[in-house]
Amino acid sequence: MASVLVASNRGPVSYVRGEDGELDARRGGGGLVSGLSAVSSQDSLWVCAALGEGDREAVRRGIGEPGVRMLDIAPDVYADAYNGIANSVLWFLHHHLYDIPREPVFDAAFRHRWEAYRAYNRAFAEALAAAADEGAAVLVQDYHLALVPGQLRELRPDLRIGHFTHTPWASPEYFRMLPADIGDELLRGMLGADELGFHTSAWASAFLSCAGGEQPRTRVRVHPLGVDAEELRALAHRPQVDERLARLREEVGDRKTIVRVDRTELSKNILRGLLAYRELLTVHPEWRDRVVHLASAYPSRQDLAAYRAYTASVTELAAEINAEFGTADWQPVLVSVEDDFTRSLAAYRLADVALVNPVRDGMNLVAKEIPVVSDAGCALVLSTGAGAYEELKEDALTVHPYDVSETAEALHTALTMPPPERADRTKRLASAATALPPQRWFLNQLEGLSDA
Ligand code: G6P
Repeated sequence: MASVLVASNRGPVSYVRGEDGELDARRGGGGLVSGLSAVSSQDSLWVCAALGEGDREAVRRGIGEPGVRMLDIAPDVYADAYNGIANSVLWFLHHHLYDIPREPVFDAAFRHRWEAYRAYNRAFAEALAAAADEGAAVLVQDYHLALVPGQLRELRPDLRIGHFTHTPWASPEYFRMLPADIGDELLRGMLGADELGFHTSAWASAFLSCAGGEQPRTRVRVHPLGVDAEELRALAHRPQVDERLARLREEVGDRKTIVRVDRTELSKNILRGLLAYRELLTVHPEWRDRVVHLASAYPSRQDLAAYRAYTASVTELAAEINAEFGTADWQPVLVSVEDDFTRSLAAYRLADVALVNPVRDGMNLVAKEIPVVSDAGCALVLSTGAGAYEELKEDALTVHPYDVSETAEALHTALTMPPPERADRTKRLASAATALPPQRWFLNQLEGLSDA
C-alpha cells in the first residue's frame, strides 16, 4: 500500500531482451522520475503500462522494480487506447494537428477504440484504488489517463486526486470537434480530480473555457516544470559526453552551430525549421560553409503512418538541403535519427544557437535545457507555440511557428548576436529555466492536494 501514487502510460523503467536472451531493465529519465524522487520510495508507487513484449514478459515472470507496478493490458485494447485514441485523437486535438479535410472521423471504429480507451483508463483506476492507503495522494499524468480521476473518485472517494497535463489543452472551438458525449465524458473524467495542473496559464485557461465553469470542486493550477541545473550539468559533463563533444567539434570545425533536438513529432515543426535554415543560406549566403545545423530527430510513435511519413520527409528535406548547398568539406545539416541522449547533451554544449519552433507544445524542456548546459552561451530562437514561451520570451528571439522567413531572420540575428549579449541572455534564460525544478514541481502539487 502507498500514500503517494503516480500513474502514467510510460513508466520509469522498460524491459528489453538482451543479446544473452535475458531481460534488461532500462531506466528512463525525465521530470517525473526526478520529481518523484522527492518522496520516500517506501511510501510511493508508480503505476504504468507494460509497453512492449519485454515489459509484458517481465510482468508475467514477476520481474519488477520496487515501487513500480506495470499493468499488462491486453495488446489490442492497449493499441486502440494508446495509438488509436491517445496519440491519434487526443494528441491531435490538443496540438491542433488535424488535416481538416480528412480528419477527424468519428465513426463506429472510433467508438470501438474509445471503449478500449475507457477500459485502459479503468485498469489504471482499479490498480490505483487497490494500492492506495486511506486518504493517499494520487497524481495522474497526461492525456492518456484523462478518465482516471473520475473513475478513481467513484471507487475511492477518500483519495486526494491530482491530474497533470503535459501537453497543451485544445482551444474550445477545436475541442468541440469531439462528439458532444465524448467531450463531456473527457471533461467529467478530468473534473473527478481535486486539482488539475498545467504547464502554462494559456493551457489552463483553454481547459477552463472548454469546461465552461463546470468545475465546482476542482481547482486548476499552473505548475511550469523546470530543469534541475545541478543534475543536468553533471550529466552533461560526464566523460562520454566530453568524448562525444570532441568528435562533434571535429565534424563542425570552427563553424557556428544551430542545434535542435526533438522526437520526430508532427507538432515540433521540424520541416519549417529546415525550410528556415534553407532560407537563411539563400538570403544570407555569407553563412554558407560557416554554419552547421545539428538536428537530432529521434524516432517516435512509428506505429502511426503519419509519423512514419513525417520522419521520412524530415530526412528527405535535410538531404535536399545538403545536395543544394553542400560542398566537398561542408555538410550543411547533420541529422541524427537515433535516440542518443549523450549526443544531444554534447550538441547542447556546443550550441551557438538553439532552435525550438513547435507549432504547439505543452512546455518543451529542450528550450530550458540548452541555456543551462551550453558552454559558451547560446541564443535561443523560440516559437510562440511552445509552453516555455511564457517564461522565456524576454530573452529568447521569438518567432511565429509558421513564419519561415521570420525564423530565418531570427537565425541570422542569433548567429550575429554579440557574445556579451548572448552570455547575458543565456544567464537569464537559465535562471528562468531552473525556477521550478522537478522535485519542487512535484512537491508543490502534493502540497496543493493536502490543502484540498
Ligand atoms: C509527450 C507526452 C508524454 C509522452 C512523451 C513521449 O511528452 O506528454 O506523456 O510520454 O511525449 O511519447 P511516447 O508516446 O513515446 O510516450
